[in-house]
Amino acid sequence: MTKPLVDLVAGARPNFMKLAPVARALDTREGLETRIVHTGQHYDRDMSEVFFEELRIRVPDIHLEAGSGTHGAQTAQILQKYEAELLKRKPAATVVFGDVNSTIAAALAAVKLGVKVVHVEAGLRSFDRAMPEEINRILTDSISDLLLVSEPSGLTNLRAEGVSPERIRLVGNVMIDSLKGELERAGELGFPRRLGFEERGYGLVTLHRPSNVDHPGVLESLVDVFCEISMELPLVFPVHPRTKGALERAGLTQRLQSRGKVTLLDPVSYRENLSLMKDARLVLTDSGGIQEETTCLGVPCLTLRANTERPVTAEKGTSRLVGNDPEAIRRAFSDVMAGRWPEGRPIELWDGHAGERVAREIESLVTHR
Ligand code: UD1
Repeated sequence: MTKPLVDLVAGARPNFMKLAPVARALDTREGLETRIVHTGQHYDRDMSEVFFEELRIRVPDIHLEAGSGTHGAQTAQILQKYEAELLKRKPAATVVFGDVNSTIAAALAAVKLGVKVVHVEAGLRSFDRAMPEEINRILTDSISDLLLVSEPSGLTNLRAEGVSPERIRLVGNVMIDSLKGELERAGELGFPRRLGFEERGYGLVTLHRPSNVDHPGVLESLVDVFCEISMELPLVFPVHPRTKGALERAGLTQRLQSRGKVTLLDPVSYRENLSLMKDARLVLTDSGGIQEETTCLGVPCLTLRANTERPVTAEKGTSRLVGNDPEAIRRAFSDVMAGRWPEGRPIELWDGHAGERVAREIESLVTHR
């Protein structure tokens, strides 16, 4: 008898640390076959391949090589190319992660061909439809058969949208499985020390959201406040490709390198980033995932956004919404330096075993229904 086939689709950097624990847990199940599909949304070695190596994800079984493009073009490429693969061999389920363009594109290709769709990290809402990810989240959830939720707000949001409770499960946060699994190895790497920094002797910056980097005026005021802060606490800033382009176009790279104590790096690997977060005095970021990771690590996180789809990180964790106003950033920075920052509490089901719970739900979906 042929085993039910489960496709795991990932394409962009924040997908890979979510896919890894699910792939591992599914691969221990004799009764299932898995196929790893890489959409190619992220393609540079330091945005993709290095994550597969460090997180021990096998080489993708299918690579769609969709690449960059406008939202329409990128989504369409993935949709068309994944559909062609589904027509060659149809899985029992397609599992998609997070909220990137690869997530909605693969889910849409699958659902139209009658393939069951599982969304890992379902139900998150920023309530800001100007964010491309918010559109991806809403659409993906609306066509998914199984909605696997990482934090309690996901349950509330899906219920408020009228999603039937049988489709929803609170499974916890799979990304925390990767963090817990790699923390020791990341510590052994001693990446901050190799850059010349002591534990808690530096801050980490990450920035890539269009709302912060695509407007030259906003980007300039952020660069200035980073330079100012860095005179008190040196900053390490691994630069995302989108941000690198924006800094160069706005003529700000040189200012960032010369005015303060900011160490600019190319994108760092999963373990390097974990090593940097773990030992930082604080993190300044607009990343969704990093709000969760700093909460788990107990490191203060100044979230440079007006809203978050991960409210538990602000309610119980170490993240605070600071926005991108320089004065608010300065104030929050002073609060951290003066020890006025919450320590954070553990979050329910962010325990390192979410991948196992996800695998159990997927197995039950494809074998019992
Ligand atoms: C995407 C996700 C975002 C996620 C982020 C993490 C969407 C809508 N956005 O944003 O939610 O937080 O990934 O990184 O899916 N580029 C490279 N090399 C690469 C990939 C991209 O140079 O390997 C450059 C290209 O110039 C590209 C730009 O980065 O045009 C943006 O890439 P894209 O995938 O469109 O969006 P991200 O900003 O990475």
